[in-house]
Amino acid sequence: MSYPEHRPRRLRRNAAVRRLVAETRPAPAELVVPMFVKEGLTEPRPIGSLPGVLQHTRDSLRKAAVEAVQAGVGGIMLFGVPAERDECGAGGIDPNGILNVAIRDVVSEVGDATVVMSDLCLDEFTSHGHCGLLTPDGSVDNDATLAAYAEMAVAQAAAGVSVVGPSGMMDGQVGAVRRALDAAGYTDVAVLAYAVKYASAFYGPFREAVESSLEGDRRTYQQDPANLRESLREVELDVAEGADMVMVKPALPYLDVVSAVRAAVQVPVAAYQVSGEYAMVEAAAANGWIDREQVMLETLTSIRRAGAQIILTYWAVEAAELLRQRY
Ligand code: PBG
Repeated sequence: MSYPEHRPRRLRRNAAVRRLVAETRPAPAELVVPMFVKEGLTEPRPIGSLPGVLQHTRDSLRKAAVEAVQAGVGGIMLFGVPAERDECGAGGIDPNGILNVAIRDVVSEVGDATVVMSDLCLDEFTSHGHCGLLTPDGSVDNDATLAAYAEMAVAQAAAGVSVVGPSGMMDGQVGAVRRALDAAGYTDVAVLAYAVKYASAFYGPFREAVESSLEGDRRTYQQDPANLRESLREVELDVAEGADMVMVKPALPYLDVVSAVRAAVQVPVAAYQVSGEYAMVEAAAANGWIDREQVMLETLTSIRRAGAQIILTYWAVEAAELLRQRY
């Protein structure tokens, strides 16, 4: 009896054939590593809820950037943790603010060997921890915030960044940033828009990493996890306003969104595997409950398969090395 007629297992029978037919293979060049630098720090400091991730000193950041280049990662996304904060987040705009200084440091160290990017948001710099400026009654003032983002974008471009990542979810932020960059002569600085950013509980460990002072939540500006169609509207607006790339965040719980965005736009699509996604895997692996490396690569493969061609991940450097060994 010659049955079954179809045997998909033929293409799974050994590693060589599996490798031949693999449809998705994340590459080091598609990975972007987020890095934190803290003002005034003298020794790099571990972040408890993000094992393996550090708050860098200016010096250790330079070294880590060089290591990232050696590992072949596609980009570095910089976040600054200032020593002091104020109501309007002035430290984000100040050319001597920690993030702008760190951009200069990293760019002078790595040049164009990888793409240097910066988070463009006020939350690390404001005393209240919100991503924008507050009105007297405490709500986030969209249009006043746009003016601050515009100044911040120009300061980051002046520091030498190649890509700015507006992540505050204010309406019109991409257009405001694009116009300000162009008016200041930075027409070549690209915008990676956090077009789709959910009000997610998966950002928990990041709040420790940047020592966030936020009380309450960001639900008046970040999106409701219940909505998909709204994301398509957000990406459409951002592309119309001049986004060069669009990002979906978080990644793994929103693969349907990644896939829909991929189908809807022509610009490159990125996904941010956020702190809580990383921390869950690290915690389970530390307990011996899952195979850390296997799960790491499985998550990256899945995000890639869903349609993200760029992935921001705290594993970028390690994963780049693993991927090179395996493929
Ligand atoms: C805002 C910003 C956040 C993250 C990246 N940019 C925090 C937030 O919106 O609350 C989270 C990233 C992560 O969790 O890894 N500047």
